[in-house]
Amino acid sequence: MSQAKENAALAALDFVEDGMVLGLGSGSTAEIFIEHLGERVAGGLKIECVPTSQQTADCARENGVPLVDIDRVSGIQLTVDGADEVDPMFSLIKGGGACLLREKIVAHASERMIVIVDNSKIVEKLGKFPLPVEVDPFGVALTAEQIYAALRASGCENGQTVLRQNKEGTGPLITDGGHYIVDCKCELIPDPAETAHLLDRIPGVMEHGLFIDLSSVVIVGEDDHARVMELKRE
Ligand code: A5P
Repeated sequence: MSQAKENAALAALDFVEDGMVLGLGSGSTAEIFIEHLGERVAGGLKIECVPTSQQTADCARENGVPLVDIDRVSGIQLTVDGADEVDPMFSLIKGGGACLLREKIVAHASERMIVIVDNSKIVEKLGKFPLPVEVDPFGVALTAEQIYAALRASGCENGQTVLRQNKEGTGPLITDGGHYIVDCKCELIPDPAETAHLLDRIPGVMEHGLFIDLSSVVIVGEDDHARVMELKRE
């Protein structure tokens, strides 16, 4: 286990309060957070959690973290999730684990989103990590062409699209929501808001991995400590 991820996950626990409904992100860093959350629950912390993927739900159950159906909560106070890239304005690329649609639904519904990453995820400009886009399987080739056009029109250096395959190599990966993932090799996304805007207009796109203006706290794990960075949003 990476000590940097562990340090970020541990620091996020300080933001959790008794009585909260929490959104649980997906991925290896989020799972470390969930493991420690389980220890706090065993120690008496009272929370209910909304998972952003099947994998996260399984991890929460294994660690004794109570889950609640997203349709049964009246609000989510805090979501803690990982990311694949984080820029200086806390814009993110997410979806490396193919959970971006549910992650975005939960983050958007949350009063606060905290991102936990190791320092390798901090970048000046987004785009080196291929941008995941979740698409409906119907007309996927046409949708991929439109995604490529949107990326180029918004100034991305590249835009080559690749349909993500499942681990077994037997066909396209299917997300928890029954969709495909198109990974886009942008190299550089000079204007994430414009790229997000153009992708949002494509009917076959269910959601994309650009998370803009959603998180106000980023916790960066280093080998021996964690840095908590906060951005004041108007
Ligand atoms: C899941 O779809 C992703 O958004 C993850 O949050 C992201 O890939 C970070 O994962 P790690 O914590 O495993 O790096």
